[in-house]
Amino acid sequence: MAVTALVGAQWGDEGKGKVIDILAEKSDMVVRAQGGNNAGHTVVANGTVYKLRLIPSGILYKNTTCIVGNGVVIDPGVILSEIDDLISKGVDVSHLKIDARAHVILPYHLAIDELSEKARGAADIGTTKRGIGPCYMDKAERIGIRMCDLINSETFREKLAHNTKIKNDIIVKIYGGTPVSFDKIYADYTEYAKRLAPHVCDTSVLVYNAIKAGKNVLFEGAQGALLDLDVGTYPYVTSSHPVSGGFCIGAGVGPTLIKECLGIAKAYTTRVGKGPFPTELNDEVGEQIRKVGAEFGTVTGRPRRCGWLDTVILRFAVRVNGLTGIALNKLDTLTGLKTLKICVGYNKNGKRVDDFPADISDLEGCEPIYEEYEGWTQDISGAKSLKDLPKAAVNYLKAVEKLIDCPVKMVGVGPDRTQNFMIR
Ligand code: IMP
Repeated sequence: MAVTALVGAQWGDEGKGKVIDILAEKSDMVVRAQGGNNAGHTVVANGTVYKLRLIPSGILYKNTTCIVGNGVVIDPGVILSEIDDLISKGVDVSHLKIDARAHVILPYHLAIDELSEKARGAADIGTTKRGIGPCYMDKAERIGIRMCDLINSETFREKLAHNTKIKNDIIVKIYGGTPVSFDKIYADYTEYAKRLAPHVCDTSVLVYNAIKAGKNVLFEGAQGALLDLDVGTYPYVTSSHPVSGGFCIGAGVGPTLIKECLGIAKAYTTRVGKGPFPTELNDEVGEQIRKVGAEFGTVTGRPRRCGWLDTVILRFAVRVNGLTGIALNKLDTLTGLKTLKICVGYNKNGKRVDDFPADISDLEGCEPIYEEYEGWTQDISGAKSLKDLPKAAVNYLKAVEKLIDCPVKMVGVGPDRTQNFMIR
């Protein structure tokens, strides 16, 4: 597998966790490069459940170096509770490495995330309220506190004192909220720093050396292409770069070093949070997909909005990520639907739209143009290869490949890690 990037091809929640777990077993290094604890996935290994948000799932394999790169925003309390949970289950975490340049989420980021969403009223983004956006704002404003600052108590004290004053003005004077306490944050975060310090280093060097030494390196994406701050459905996006280019910035590696890029998609579409969604199904088919596919958020528990597969979106994902293949997950969720629809383009005021619009307001009023495919009723959850799938399911996969001009390389037919098979 050499150097492979794995990205979400839709609005996040495509089942990346399971594919990452499968590939992590063969990886010498797993790298996260963007987002924070707004992401999350559950790994079940030997009957034990692990809930991971910030730590790459390769942590379960003791010879896999797990990197939390400079582009990730870290809530120290959250990463430590993940570490404690892993230790209590007998997992060694000494191979977890955190970049010194990664920015730290502080209580004022959480407060401002909550208050600013409330202030937006009906125009809220529907964030996960984990302080992600406000932390990246500080990074861009160049007042952020990084892991290297956190583990240096004098620098931390100075920066925290400065920021707490400004943030409390915003919290109290602009939003009428409750101020955060410098003393409490300083005391709590100094303790966190002591425990995290042994993991902190320059991870860009580690990643570069691993690639140069010919190791198998897996870049683990969070969220999905449509949530990308730059190319996604702005403003209903996250504040980092879930597209493959985000790995270069967020892990400190050049683009020529990443050879393969696998996009993870579901056999249908879902999204959480607000914003237009052309193939959304507000009917009993949408309800069935939500129920059968257990479409409820891992981090927030929110019901996900569900709809037909949209190949305008997948073509966009192929383009912006340079995908070399697709892993199509949850094909089994479609079992039992008599007719399946795939969106192949949009109709906007009588004009055909084939490329995903740059301006989200152009997406409003886009009517999906559907092609219909025959469904199947056979249980496919035990399929181990294309030969085990009914003809209608194979036709569905072939149609997707043709419509997006990208090979489907892996298929998911159930929640267990054994319920995935490679086609190529
Ligand atoms: P934030 O990342 O918490 O700022 O939220 C911004 C938008 O991204 C909201 O619509 C969230 O629901 C969405 N979002 C963030 N992380 C995820 C994820 O892991 N899966 C799906 N949606 C996400």
